[in-house]
Amino acid sequence: MRKTLITVFVALLSVILGYGYANAITGQCSNCHTMHNSQNGSTVDASGPSQRLLNASCIACHKEDTTGGKTNSFGAPIVWHTTAPTGQGASKTNAGGDFYWVVNTGDSYGHNVVGVKAPDATITPADTPPGWDQTATTGLTFDSKTLQVTGGAGWTSQLTCAGTFGCHGTRNAVDFGGIQGAHHNNLNGTATQANLANTTNVGNSFRFLANIYGLEDANWNWAETATTHNEYYGANSASNRNYDAVATTYTNKNTISFLCAECHGLFHSKIAHDNAYAYGDPWRRHPSDIALPTSGEYAKYNTADGSAIGTYSVEAPIARTTVPASSGSTVTAGTDAIMCLSCHRAHGSNQADLLRWTYTDMVAGGTNSGGCFVCHTEKNATGTNP
Ligand code: HEC
Ligand code: HEC
Ligand code: HEC
Ligand code: HEC
Ligand code: HEC
Repeated sequence: MRKTLITVFVALLSVILGYGYANAITGQCSNCHTMHNSQNGSTVDASGPSQRLLNASCIACHKEDTTGGKTNSFGAPIVWHTTAPTGQGASKTNAGGDFYWVVNTGDSYGHNVVGVKAPDATITPADTPPGWDQTATTGLTFDSKTLQVTGGAGWTSQLTCAGTFGCHGTRNAVDFGGIQGAHHNNLNGTATQANLANTTNVGNSFRFLANIYGLEDANWNWAETATTHNEYYGANSASNRNYDAVATTYTNKNTISFLCAECHGLFHSKIAHDNAYAYGDPWRRHPSDIALPTSGEYAKYNTADGSAIGTYSVEAPIARTTVPASSGSTVTAGTDAIMCLSCHRAHGSNQADLLRWTYTDMVAGGTNSGGCFVCHTEKNATGTNP
């Protein structure tokens, strides 16, 4: 009896513990590490010994192998399918989209990350992020720019998954150095949502994006619905974004759009109509990190009938200005914000510029819906989304 109770307790405990740490690395070391890049005299990783004694590179470990769909045989979320996904979104790609198209369709269909694309022999302007402004995001907690500055003009490398010239982890170390320990330290669910206790902890940041907040969907949005999905963090602030010499600080450095701004700074900062103290519409660049206005077409986001506000759209999602404890379908104008990921995927998509929908289908006064019309509800013929 006592034994049964203990067994039940242990089982329960593992469920409880498992809840907070659902995605932390498990399994034998040798599944992922090789001590000498050699086994029975044969080389384990033909491309040479990897950093952190891993038996595969970043991207090789996150690529479709014998297993496709959401995760591969390592149990790692797949960001590069080798079988063509039939589109983007639920049950086709994970949240970030996919590197399939940048490999198979063309450069503008994704971020040209080393490993996905062959390393560039010489660094050209095409390797520099559009809107790159080194001063746009100074003063990061992890300070981002130290290593980049050494390169003079600033941007001196092809993009990498992580580190100084990458998106994941910190900018103050190269490649794997930027995400050190994150895999074994991965916290998700409410831990990430509350990722405030230790902002220097990459494993505790949204998807290893250092210092970025959000609520992680346990399935990386693979089966996303209006109710079940990642909750991205946004802000409602048109000002204080290193807009000019006047505003030298950022109001909020934890939003998903700030992550993009670390490389595409100008697209997040010089958005308002003049460069004095006034911010707001008329805009000069499409705004991100401002709340949907409570009046006009925006207050009817994803409307079903042209009158009331609709529910969360997985095609043109909004960010939350407070990260909720669980994801939901309710959208509130005046609070929920537009973000870079309202229109873009982070890794790549089947559309040029990593867009979430076909831009040429967005015809003013026409009968198409979705995409831009999810927010600009009065610009098509019907005034409704569906
Ligand atoms: C499912 C894959 C996987 C397994 C299993 C695994 N690791 Fe790792 N480990 C990684 C990855 C990926 C990294 C590098 C990225 C990072 O640091 O987050 C890493 C990094 C490390 C590091 C360097 C970073 C740090 O935390 O200091 C150490 C040490 C390490 N692993 C030890 C181990 C040991 C010991 C085992 C077995 C008990 C093990 N790992 C099992 C994937 C794995
Ligand atoms: C040896 C295999 C392996 C390598 C190498 C590896 N990963 Fe992972 N990664 C995994 C596994 C397994 C998971 C799923 C478990 C988890 O979420 O921690 C994962 C999860 C992740 C996640 C999702 C974390 C979350 O919050 O759900 C990110 C982001 C990530 N890896 C980025 C990277 C980056 C960037 C690199 C290279 C610098 C890398 N990985 C290298 C195996 C690997
Ligand atoms: C670490 C730097 C970095 C970050 C962070 C970053 N990007 Fe980029 N981005 C680049 C670089 C470099 C290019 C140009 C070369 C390429 O496509 O890889 C680029 C290109 C792009 C393009 C144009 C694609 C093309 O090839 O024409 C889009 C769209 C884009 N990024 C969107 C985003 C969004 C959205 C985010 C945030 C989720 C983001 N980027 C975050 C570095 C970055
Ligand atoms: C309202 C939708 C929308 C939002 C929000 C948005 N973008 Fe874009 N972005 C686009 C479209 C559409 C394009 C394609 C080019 C065009 O039509 O201007 C584009 C193009 C780009 C490019 C490629 C530019 C080039 O020179 O090829 C980058 C980089 C980019 N966006 C980054 C960002 C970043 C970073 C954010 C957030 C700060 C962001 N975008 C927010 C819709 C958006
Ligand atoms: C997630 C919601 C959302 C999506 C999707 C969206 N927008 Fe916007 N857009 C906004 C908001 C919010 C504003 C600023 C409204 C304000 O301040 O009055 C705006 C402003 C604009 C403006 C400038 C209006 C002004 O008052 O200066 C244009 C033009 C525009 N959007 C075009 C587009 C196009 C084209 C697309 C599709 C590529 C698009 N938007 C997609 C939310 C969105």
